[in-house]
Amino acid sequence: MSKTAAVWRCNSCGATAPRWIGRCAECGEFDTYTEETTHREPRSGSRWVFSSEVPKPLSEIQSTPGERWSTGINELDRVLGGGLVPGSLILLGGEPGVGKSTLTLQAAGSLAASGKTVLVVTGEESPEQVKLRADRLGGFSDKLFLLAEISLERIEAAVATLRPDVLVVDSIQTLFHPAVESAPGSVSQVRECAAQLLRWGKTAGVPVLLIGHVTKDGTIAGPRVLEHMVDTVLYFDGGDQHTYRLVRTVKNRYGPSNELAVFSMGKTGLTEVANPSELFLSQRSDAVSGSAVAAVVEGTRPLMVELQALVTPSYLTNPRRLTTGVEHNRAMITLAVLEKRAGIRLAEADVYINVVGGVKIFEPALDLPLAMAVVSAAEDRLVPRDICAFGEIGLTGEVRPVGRVSERLKEAAKLGFKQALVPKSGSIEADGLEIIEVANIGEALTVLRSER
Ligand code: TYD
Ligand code: MG
Repeated sequence: MSKTAAVWRCNSCGATAPRWIGRCAECGEFDTYTEETTHREPRSGSRWVFSSEVPKPLSEIQSTPGERWSTGINELDRVLGGGLVPGSLILLGGEPGVGKSTLTLQAAGSLAASGKTVLVVTGEESPEQVKLRADRLGGFSDKLFLLAEISLERIEAAVATLRPDVLVVDSIQTLFHPAVESAPGSVSQVRECAAQLLRWGKTAGVPVLLIGHVTKDGTIAGPRVLEHMVDTVLYFDGGDQHTYRLVRTVKNRYGPSNELAVFSMGKTGLTEVANPSELFLSQRSDAVSGSAVAAVVEGTRPLMVELQALVTPSYLTNPRRLTTGVEHNRAMITLAVLEKRAGIRLAEADVYINVVGGVKIFEPALDLPLAMAVVSAAEDRLVPRDICAFGEIGLTGEVRPVGRVSERLKEAAKLGFKQALVPKSGSIEADGLEIIEVANIGEALTVLRSER
């Protein structure tokens, strides 16, 4: 017989407690505990369905050749690490309205067009609403099936009859498993439903794409709890203020993480942006101080982004340090290095730093261009338009080498840059680019100050 039990569960990390507590001991979040009643079903062994039940030597296990199915959307294939892996569980997270349903419907459409049976389960929209969106996006093959359902049991029944090659669930927060007595969207529901889909997907060899909502502060149940369970986590970024959207790989068991895809949202859905550097640099204003271009690498892709800095006199005891798009602590270290090793006085100044276009770059190679932008702003001195930079800055002010140099330089040359400020290595060559090697921050500033 099953028993019921009341537990309190953290909506942020999924930790449990026997009573309500104000601050989660696991993740440190405040006021995230909600009460849940769960059935304790006696667990039967048959729930484990993986085939290899006895331990086997690793050398005897056959590795299956990496089969991948193209989603028909190159940028999506890129963040997936080359396409959909059969049997994998993928989580696509993002704020409401960012374009998750649109992207998955487009991918489902082209997978269906390539002959795969695709089932899209929608718990949020009626089939008519989905059809309306599909009409905007263009023709769909009759291999694409739609099911408006939130009960996992009925979804399983539908899946058993249809036997789809690909399953899309929009969204995991709307699903509900009758054995779990909490509301859809609660941590235990989300986790149980995802676990069932995971087991089913792995046994049937079917890729399952889960859509998960995240609010601005990331508190809603789901995505963070799911990250441990799924094979691939993609996050949709960009928001409403930009017409283009970024999809980033946060975790991938089948490819590099940190991969980035760029889309633009238009009248007929999301279209791929083939050359994002061009897009990010397209609105560069000319001849203002405080702007520098960084040659960074996101995942496997080189990207040119504009960094802006503003340095103003501060009237506060603790001057302001505001950053967007960069790793705050790293930027603070760079400011401290500038102050100590290069004599740039910032202690009485407010400093604002921004990466243009809403991209977030967490690469250490951003240090050098960031320092250039800050000094340019502090001294009201122009960084020439056709110079780009990359390099990590150490605490002693040295400029340290970074990887993928030739890819960065190739991208810079392609976009018409004439000079590149790079870490000293003595062996850097590039076609059509003048390479300026610097060993420390002082040398970099000399270059900046010697320009017109
Ligand atoms: P949607 O995919 O519904 O977002 P999510 O599933 O992440 O909540 O798309 C949201 C926005 O995209 C919506 O504001 C309308 C816009 N949109 C377009 O601009 N063009 C289109 O062709 C489509 C289908 C949507
Ligand atoms: Mg949606």
